[in-house]
Amino acid sequence: MSDIDLFTPLKLGPYALPNRLVMAPLTRNRATDKNVPQAMNAIYYAQRASAGLIITEATQISPQGVGYPLTPGIHNDEQVVGWQKITAAVHKKGGRIFNQLWHVGRISHPSLQVDNALPVAPSAIKPAGDAVTYSGLQPFVEPRALEIEELAGIVDDYRAAAINALQAGFDGVEVHAANGYLIDQFLRDGSNQRSDEYGGSYENRTRFLLEVLDAITEVWVSDRVGVRLSPLNPFNDMCDSNPEALFSYVVKQLNPRKLAYLHVVEGAIQADVDPDTAFDMTVLRAQFEGLYIANGGYNKQRANDALKAHKADLISFGELYLANPDLVARFQQDAPLNSADPTTYYGGDEVGYTDYPFL
Ligand code: PHB
Repeated sequence: MSDIDLFTPLKLGPYALPNRLVMAPLTRNRATDKNVPQAMNAIYYAQRASAGLIITEATQISPQGVGYPLTPGIHNDEQVVGWQKITAAVHKKGGRIFNQLWHVGRISHPSLQVDNALPVAPSAIKPAGDAVTYSGLQPFVEPRALEIEELAGIVDDYRAAAINALQAGFDGVEVHAANGYLIDQFLRDGSNQRSDEYGGSYENRTRFLLEVLDAITEVWVSDRVGVRLSPLNPFNDMCDSNPEALFSYVVKQLNPRKLAYLHVVEGAIQADVDPDTAFDMTVLRAQFEGLYIANGGYNKQRANDALKAHKADLISFGELYLANPDLVARFQQDAPLNSADPTTYYGGDEVGYTDYPFL
């Protein structure tokens, strides 16, 4: 045990964080229909600038990476200009903000793709469920398995997005390798049945993630680059035959890369963890040599318990940050919390977005 709590300052890469609260990445579907961030997004993020660190909503690295309506990208100049206003607004309030880089892989739909193309994935395995499109929910389609020759091009898209994130004034980037999107589709064997160097062994399934990280760390010093994993989350029809062994392997490969942090979605979102393959995330925490951000339904008490027990260095909050722009002050004062309204999570205007009251 230690006396560390949420209000103990911490150095993350070159940044002096005043506290250990992280705003978790939250998809809010309030960009324009050209996937450009807009004015209300700057207000929303600036309201939450007292967090130790803000991680943006997932942000597409390319048109192919789009999977939902009204989500932002960082692959063209208009988007970079939109993000510049957001990073400037957060910095003006004294905050720090990382951009979460995203390619959805198979979690898309032809109607969201250029020329109605098929979504792409490691293997042609259709996820169960429905895509969210501009004309409502539509069943997922069988994705096109990526040719091995195409992968370097997607790595280049990550590199270009990382350069754009630098231009946009971000303090760092988080590689979204969680929640059933493209990189996670490579990692877990429920979605990766390739027989080339990108499928089969742990080494092969981790190759794409490491190539992406190596490209991004040509652009950003590695202490400004984080990774998000979700070893047990079945969301987006994901599973793996041995997540403990797979993700232990992944974490060991991350160590020599000296990243800013490892961010772990410890349980499940919108689904239940498979008890047959579940394991305790302290295994990954112990194997990772850098800062560890824990995510998953934490409140103040659980967060402080985890920090005191050295089970995490920082805690990220999703729903609580959505509804409480001044979560730091509320925790500090043990003030009552606003409760989040799920009907305004995805899409809409300022209502349920920038109008949650401050203390
Ligand atoms: C979602 O839009 O539902 C979503 C996006 C990114 C995530 C998880 C969920 O990592």
